[in-house]
Amino acid sequence: MAAIPLNGAKAFIFDAYGTLFDLINPVAARAARLGSKAGPLSELWRRKQLEYSWLRSLMEEYSDFWTLTGEALDYAMDSLDIHDPALRADLMELYLSIPTYEEVPEVLSNLKARGLKTGILSNGSPLMLTSAVNCAGLTQNLDFVLSVDEIKVFKPSPRVYNMAAERLRLVPNEIAFFSSNAWDISGAASFGFQAVWCNRNNAPRERLPGLPMAEISNLRDALTLLEG
Ligand code: LAC
Repeated sequence: MAAIPLNGAKAFIFDAYGTLFDLINPVAARAARLGSKAGPLSELWRRKQLEYSWLRSLMEEYSDFWTLTGEALDYAMDSLDIHDPALRADLMELYLSIPTYEEVPEVLSNLKARGLKTGILSNGSPLMLTSAVNCAGLTQNLDFVLSVDEIKVFKPSPRVYNMAAERLRLVPNEIAFFSSNAWDISGAASFGFQAVWCNRNNAPRERLPGLPMAEISNLRDALTLLEG
């Protein structure tokens, strides 16, 4: 997909996990002692975490992302016959000190230097997000960190994207939204954000409503959309 310049966006909002923060490599490193089960554990944990967020939203049975992330990990470990409480604790702790992708600090500070508003809109619980942002030293370069916990429903409910627009007092198309999760991009684009898919793993497009206005392979490319 050709990149087209962002059109007058006043705020740049980022998804957290998989977009700013790298889950795949750190999980693999911490689970390395599992050998060939490390990859499947990482993949199943993330898949179940997302499924539980969507299912709980449909069931109207909200619990915060920290709780359901633990439940998803329990399911994944059970399913792969892994019984290792120390590893479980270590993997959960990762969420509190999760590293960013390498380009993230520089991209955020570049956006701030241009006088643009930057922030996070995430399923993560406030505690998870605050801890990760502090550990990564991103506080200076983010104007806001919004958690769905305020409204107790997960992305891609339009209520989540609306919460961000209301908080910023902007109309949806004044907001540029970046996510590596294609389903999140569908939700954000359907709502009316200028949605940019950071397709880090060269995934195929989702067959869902709401098209990204641009596709990039890492967040550094976001800066070229400004210069477009
Ligand atoms: C988030 C998940 C969906 O940060 O990556 O909201």
